[in-house]
Amino acid sequence: MKKELVIGLFGFGVVGEGLYKILQQTPSLKAKIKKACIVDTQKKRNAPKELFTTDRNELLFDDEINVIVEVINDADAAFQIVSTALKNNKDVVSASKKMISEHLPELLELQKQTGRSFLYEAAACASIPVIRNLEEYYDNDLLHSFSAILNGSTNYILTKMYDENVNFDKALTTAQELGYAETDPKMDVEGFDAAHKLTLLLNHAYGIVTSIDTISFLGVQNIHLADISVAKEKQWRIKLVATAKTLSNGKIATFVFPQFVSEKHHFSFVKNEFNGVIIESGFADQQFFYGKGAGSLATGSGVMSDVAALRYGYKYEYKKLYHHDKKEISNDFYLRVYVSFNDFSQIQKDDFEWIEEWHGGSQRNYLIGVIHFDKLTQSEWWKNSDVSLILYSDAILEDINLEDKKKNISLFK
Ligand SMILES: NC(=O)c1ccc[n+]([C@@H]2O[C@H](COP(=O)([O-])OP(=O)(O)OC[C@H]3O[C@@H](n4cnc5c(N)ncnc54)[C@H](OP(=O)(O)O)[C@@H]3O)[C@@H](O)[C@H]2O)c1
Repeated sequence: MKKELVIGLFGFGVVGEGLYKILQQTPSLKAKIKKACIVDTQKKRNAPKELFTTDRNELLFDDEINVIVEVINDADAAFQIVSTALKNNKDVVSASKKMISEHLPELLELQKQTGRSFLYEAAACASIPVIRNLEEYYDNDLLHSFSAILNGSTNYILTKMYDENVNFDKALTTAQELGYAETDPKMDVEGFDAAHKLTLLLNHAYGIVTSIDTISFLGVQNIHLADISVAKEKQWRIKLVATAKTLSNGKIATFVFPQFVSEKHHFSFVKNEFNGVIIESGFADQQFFYGKGAGSLATGSGVMSDVAALRYGYKYEYKKLYHHDKKEISNDFYLRVYVSFNDFSQIQKDDFEWIEEWHGGSQRNYLIGVIHFDKLTQSEWWKNSDVSLILYSDAILEDINLEDKKKNISLFK
């Protein structure tokens, strides 16, 4: 049966105001915002003054409010708000990927204990319905892989560097001026944001509950204009891609790294602040989802879709986690990588199984080699700001050919 929804809204920034506008334009949803909690009473708001409060308890302890929407920019406060709301018998919708990723086990437990719905579609890919898709549509064993451009800021920066041949710093400044990157861009450009989102997707895709502490990730902060030139020469593009792939042993290879993709690859068409997801499954083969990964109305629409689903009592069942054989992460595979650097001493060449190509240039050198993922995760040299590591497209190799290894070692070691 359809439920009347009375919303307590936390946050009236980019997303909160977006949701407010959307709900004004969709009266058929029969959802009203009763109160909105914010911090700064002096800020000018595009809504009546009586809507706002700074007292969170006015929302959390109001019996008429049956839905809390949490879209604030403070992960610690967000967790307190969400957990108090669930314990107070309210359904909750959130877009705070950092908070959800950092508190996944506690949030799963709270959902079990309270039986309330906790939905967060907009937390990954904003307007693209990827979480509910992975949760509902793809069976565990048939889901071969997913790969995703999950962060709009870094995608904007990479597009700008490629299209206008500007360096990382210049592209970042432009992204900040246009509101595509935060004043403190670390979470986005260094890959934290994409890694947080990846942990949410791993849960709904494979029943893996993990945190970014166990995920290897790198952002776009070290991408050099020389890398862009190499990409152009080979008719490739560079994208920051989160990957999860089922290996032949049934375990999952997963990471976030910059990656080369050919100009014909779906991800080549994902430009600027857009996001994209490719899902490969047993019989459906490849599916590509594309859409806005940020922005007021785009993210608000993801939040609204969750609010609408609450009318029918929708909950994530976490099917892969509770009803299927859970999958495990494995580091037992190899990657084909491109690495550019100023000085050969910056590279731990003994970490490589073999090096296939080596180019010395007046400004920048690069090599292409094969490395075991475990070796990569245990070393730090590739995080150095003078080193840029980019995966090949189809970078994962499960078996390496020992003859190739011997041949290449004799040439380069
Ligand atoms: N922006 C996007 O495109 C996007 C996309 C997907 C997910 N998200 C996620 O959605 C969330 C909100 O993002 P946003 O871009 O809308 O942030 P924002 O524009 O910075 O707005 C944050 C809002 O939260 C309020 N706030 C902060 N701490 C609070 C507290 N303790 N209690 C009550 N209100 C509090 C702020 O109040 P004041 O107005 O008084 O300062 C502000 O209204 C974040 O978790 C973000 O990661 C954003």
